[in-house]
Amino acid sequence: MRYDYSSIGFYTFDCLGWPYRGIPEGGGTFFLDDFALAVSGAAGTAAIAAAKMGLKCLAVGGVGPDLMGEWVLSRLAHFGVDTRGMKTVPGGRTSSSIVTTRADGSRPALHLRGATADFYVDDAFLPVATDARVVHLGGVGLMDRMDGGRGAELLKQAKIRGVTTTVDVFAGSREDLKKIALALPHTDFFIPSIEEASALTGLSSAGDMARTFFDLGVTCCIFTLGENGAYYHHRDGASFHMPAFDVAVKCTCGCGDAFNAGFAVACCRGFDPEMAVKFAQATSALNSTGLGSQAGVVSFDHTLAFMTETRLKRAAPLK
Ligand SMILES: Nc1ncnc2c1ncn2[C@@H]1O[C@H](COP(=O)(O)OP(=O)(O)OP(=O)(O)O)[C@@H](O)[C@H]1O
Ligand SMILES: [Mg+2]
Repeated sequence: MRYDYSSIGFYTFDCLGWPYRGIPEGGGTFFLDDFALAVSGAAGTAAIAAAKMGLKCLAVGGVGPDLMGEWVLSRLAHFGVDTRGMKTVPGGRTSSSIVTTRADGSRPALHLRGATADFYVDDAFLPVATDARVVHLGGVGLMDRMDGGRGAELLKQAKIRGVTTTVDVFAGSREDLKKIALALPHTDFFIPSIEEASALTGLSSAGDMARTFFDLGVTCCIFTLGENGAYYHHRDGASFHMPAFDVAVKCTCGCGDAFNAGFAVACCRGFDPEMAVKFAQATSALNSTGLGSQAGVVSFDHTLAFMTETRLKRAAPLK
């Protein structure tokens, strides 16, 4: 395989300020203590965090011919991510967010959808995009041109080549389930947040949500639960809930996306399911200690040491 990780989908330019207290009246100003730029998104954060942890990564997505796009491409290259799969969409805009991070780490955002909706992986590039040990489709629900079936086709081709496939979403309603259902028969690990899984299924029990996705063809579900950790459920029946790491959170932006990266690293290292979910959560926890996606992720050894040395929180019961 040419790459360890092909990260396909949602790449965004983030501009973050901390701590957000609200919008001042009229034309007033509130002063911030910290400010950052980051490449983010379910594919973008994943590609950079995975590259920091030693994976040979390919980025596949779209940007616009604008300053944000130039910065996204140069930042990916800075971390050694191969950007040959990044299309500059003529007349498009780079997907971009203004992220207002509160003191407790939560982060409401103002978002321009941009080129994520418009990029497309053509026949000529499909063999390159699937030439990886792990192929990740991140941001299903936002990729208008890919969500109609092309993303599913890409995963299908990856599975024919014997590749491990992972999928993350940007989904808020049952309407989005149609797009995700196309991908699930070719998905080994489906990794939405529990809020997204609930919005997609209309259900409140994690086990019931997983069974709905099994009926649609997925092999394994991993739901991220924010500060409550992660829930793993394989269609063979194996399931567990693991609490999150006990860390001082600065900004949770990109925590789910960083989880994707940690999980890909774990797949490439041959970790068992519990170790893989723990390593993925360690990547997320490190992400949350800095402002901006993957800020606190340094290297594989650093994440492994953090995982070994840091306590998990007490498990909150899961529905
Ligand atoms: N407050 C927190 N404390 C500790 N760990 C956290 C916290 N918030 C998130 N995490 C870690 O990050 C992982 C993913 O978080 P979350 O479920 O919030 O993802 P998400 O909603 O998909 O985020 P994103 O929108 O960035 O993709 C969790 O499984 C957990 O390990
Ligand atoms: Mg997410």
